[in-house]
Amino acid sequence: MIGPLLVDPPILQAPMAGFTNYAYRQIVRDYGGAGLQATEMISARGFAWLDEQQAEHPDRLWGVREEPKPLAVQIWDNDAATLARVGRRLVEEYGVSVVDINFGCPVKQVTDRARSGSYLLRHPEKMGEIIEQVVAACAPTPVTAKIRLGCTRDTINAGDVAEVVEGAGAAALTVHGRTAQDFFKGDADWERLSAVRKRLRRIPLIGNGDLDSAEKVVLAFERWGVDGVMIARAALGRPWLFQQAAAALRGEPIPPEPTLAEQRECLLKHQRLVAERFGEKKGVQLMRKFACCYAQGRRGARAFRSHVATVQTTAEFLDVVTRYFPMPM
Ligand SMILES: Cc1cc2nc3c(=O)[nH]c(=O)nc-3n(C[C@H](O)[C@H](O)[C@H](O)COP(=O)(O)O)c2cc1C
Repeated sequence: MIGPLLVDPPILQAPMAGFTNYAYRQIVRDYGGAGLQATEMISARGFAWLDEQQAEHPDRLWGVREEPKPLAVQIWDNDAATLARVGRRLVEEYGVSVVDINFGCPVKQVTDRARSGSYLLRHPEKMGEIIEQVVAACAPTPVTAKIRLGCTRDTINAGDVAEVVEGAGAAALTVHGRTAQDFFKGDADWERLSAVRKRLRRIPLIGNGDLDSAEKVVLAFERWGVDGVMIARAALGRPWLFQQAAAALRGEPIPPEPTLAEQRECLLKHQRLVAERFGEKKGVQLMRKFACCYAQGRRGARAFRSHVATVQTTAEFLDVVTRYFPMPM
């Protein structure tokens, strides 16, 4: 449970900037298995500024209003009042089911320049203040927090931060088992991640980091004692991973990987959704990186990547996909 919301199965689709847009979420939804999906992170300040200009809200909110729920929206900033105001708007106007606050982003633009994301892990008291205000503004919609283990390997403080997050009224905590300094290097530290469980009394702990198979998801529950899991990168080119993990959690046989022809169909559906929204030029640009995710790990992926990187039109994109995909394993 995340506050009043039943997340079933307890497998969450992670927020990923530049990737987890409406098209991706729709593809994941078609396969099933994700109990809660999330948008890309949205700058609360950017949203508020567009509001003042009476301009369109960010592209990153594409589809959210009409989308099937439950759906979490993730916001970032360091100003409690702005986050609270934007959180409320997202609840009221967009009908989101969960407002998640980003305290894990390690990118300099967010940390050094905007003193937000993982920068705030150095200031748990400030995090508490932010969460309290957002919780009050969004009630009864639950507010959650996503953190890393700490800023650096020497300043791991996820346990202390967890107590602050819970004390401030958050309904769940997601921990990515790396520090901000690690970025994505090395393996996620599930031992340290798991230790955070003892520091929470009421709210669920969602574990995140390197879950790339149904078996690893089951292990996260059985060995590391988390209450939920969140999957990010591994499901970008394998959106059926949630379905596989959900079956494994229920103790059922894991569905096989879709055939290559089915995978290509999935990629082409993804492309159609993106093109409908963004038009040909931007749509093709966006799809280049998704197509590379789908091809990852397959023989011929390198050649595919170099070809797809240069396509400019939908026709060229379809041509490359048809020629190179499906590719033999
Ligand atoms: C391209 C990319 C974009 C990401 N964007 C976000 C984001 O917007 N918000 C967030 O909380 N985490 C973001 N993350 C981090 C992921 O949600 C996740 O915590 C991290 O990738 C570890 O999980 P994984 O090993 O399953 O990929 C991003 C990661 C990647 C690779």
